[in-house]
Amino acid sequence: EKGYKKVEVFSKEHLAVSLAYDVAQLSYKFTRERGAFTVVLSGGSLIKYLRKLVEAPYIDSIEWSKWHVFWVDERVVPKDNLESNYKLAYDGFLSKVPIPPVNVYAIDDALPADGAADVYETTLKRLVKSNVIETSTKGVPKFDLMLLGMGPDGHVASLFPGHSLVKEDKKWVTFLKDSPKPPPERITFTFPVINSSSNIAMVVTGEGKANAVNCALEDDDEKTNDNKLPVELVLPEGELKWYLDLGAASKLFKE
Ligand code: 6PG
Repeated sequence: EKGYKKVEVFSKEHLAVSLAYDVAQLSYKFTRERGAFTVVLSGGSLIKYLRKLVEAPYIDSIEWSKWHVFWVDERVVPKDNLESNYKLAYDGFLSKVPIPPVNVYAIDDALPADGAADVYETTLKRLVKSNVIETSTKGVPKFDLMLLGMGPDGHVASLFPGHSLVKEDKKWVTFLKDSPKPPPERITFTFPVINSSSNIAMVVTGEGKANAVNCALEDDDEKTNDNKLPVELVLPEGELKWYLDLGAASKLFKE
């Protein structure tokens, strides 16, 4: 049911073990059911928590050829720049698994932000048409698994607190030039796409995130959407599971 929160707390080591297990199970399920598995990556610390997937038993048991990989957000920098989410994912994960390069849908780094966002949305439309990506009843792309991180300010993707893009409800992919977290120019999925997902894994670690985690997981029916952090607007049609380490969870059980 909506509003039900699945939260697990791990040591950093076990977080990576559990996440790999869950991602592998979803990969088996979607590969069997629909012959494809669409996975959306974030930037930041998320990638290092995928490290167990490139080891036994998963490296040999996952049908990597069925994976289709996307980004929930990207910084407007060249692909070989240290700030690039593509580079981060490539170096830490994608270069170690046999996913066909044609199934890796990087956001174009040769275009200005607005053009790159439009082109990415067109790519999504094409893949929706060919049924590589499923669609929600509203016709919005419905990814099998979205792997999200959260900033200390409660942002997800490049949707920041108080920014007008939090309310964007028409575009699937959009851009901003005033990101409070550098670099300022970014491309990002919008909430309609994020919330159409079949599964969202919210991976949050470190004490610096404890306040925002507390805010997101406390029950407060009084709060209006305008008073909510972006992370609190993550309410997918499918399943949402939080993966916290002890630091991120440290304020949850205190009065
Ligand atoms: C980005 C990310 C962003 C990230 C969070 C958490 O490009 O900045 O996609 O949404 O996931 O900022 O990042 P950390 O896990 O590194 O704190």
